Amino acid sequence: MADISAARGAALAQIEAADSLESIAALDTQLLGKKGSIAQLKTKLGGLATVDEKKAAGQAVNEAMQAVSSALAARRVELGTAATAARVEAERLDLTEFAVKPERGHAHLVTQSWERLEDVFIGLGFQVAEGPEVETDWHNFEALNMPIGHPARGEWDTLFLDHAAPGEDVGRTVLRTHTSPVQIRTMLSGMPPIYIVAPGRVFRRDTPDATHMPVFHQIEGLVVDRDITMADLAGTIEAFTKAFFGADFSSRLRPSYFPFTEPSAEFDIQRPDGSWLELGGCGMVHPNVLRHGGIDPEEWSGFAFGFGIDRMAVMRHDVADIRDMFVNDIRFAEQF
Ligand code: DAH
Repeated sequence: MADISAARGAALAQIEAADSLESIAALDTQLLGKKGSIAQLKTKLGGLATVDEKKAAGQAVNEAMQAVSSALAARRVELGTAATAARVEAERLDLTEFAVKPERGHAHLVTQSWERLEDVFIGLGFQVAEGPEVETDWHNFEALNMPIGHPARGEWDTLFLDHAAPGEDVGRTVLRTHTSPVQIRTMLSGMPPIYIVAPGRVFRRDTPDATHMPVFHQIEGLVVDRDITMADLAGTIEAFTKAFFGADFSSRLRPSYFPFTEPSAEFDIQRPDGSWLELGGCGMVHPNVLRHGGIDPEEWSGFAFGFGIDRMAVMRHDVADIRDMFVNDIRFAEQF
């Protein structure tokens, strides 16, 4: 009986110590099989003296076998649950890892320059005005002192629309070639004093190359008030140059010609290294233009200016080819 109980105790301890389903399977054959330590005890039963002893020992062996069997089953369940838990833990999917946040983009280089220009001019006391991109020939040319047949019209490679206003012929509606028609629209919509800038998209029949695009952007300026002189124009250009480019930049006016200003000038900026760069055109608003805007040139005078926004962006950021700004290559756009 002592042997049976020792074998039983040893078997149960082995089961308790098993740490995997594989070792439980091995113990199962080892302990309960015919050659197992407990089964072996059965073979000794025959050597016992009395029937009662045999009976009692046989019962003890059976009980030991049963105890071992249910201990194995219980341990198998325990280890099975632990194995499942370990597998579930190992295979766990953290779905939040895939919740990638949308990346925050930024305004296009041209838009950035456009908005900075607006900021600077608003700081100088100007308001922002707008006009349509599809214009009448009258606003784009005629009211700006370029009647039909005027040679200066030839400088603008105009895109005409196949559209005719009632009672008119085609060829009188254009994609605006510059932002200057906003001068006329602003004057017609209110009385002086006028201090506006008009940034916008303009169109010319140009073949794209490193410095030209058929669609580009300009910013127009118009001031109409009492006693406005060329000195006000020069002072405004100088204040703008310093505010936009920096205190170490300066500006100059160079005599030029535009039909809608008299006198007219080109304005250049001087970079800190002393080199000059042409930026745009300007001048005193021509009396005919004021009249077309419904303003009496005897009472009011003004100046105007206009320059390219894309060119400014190209200069500021050393862009080698203006076309790069419009092909929507994210690798380019991301850099600014
Ligand atoms: N509209 C002209 C152009 O596109 C630029 C310009 C020149 C605008 C002189 C002006 C100005 O207001 O006074 O080339």
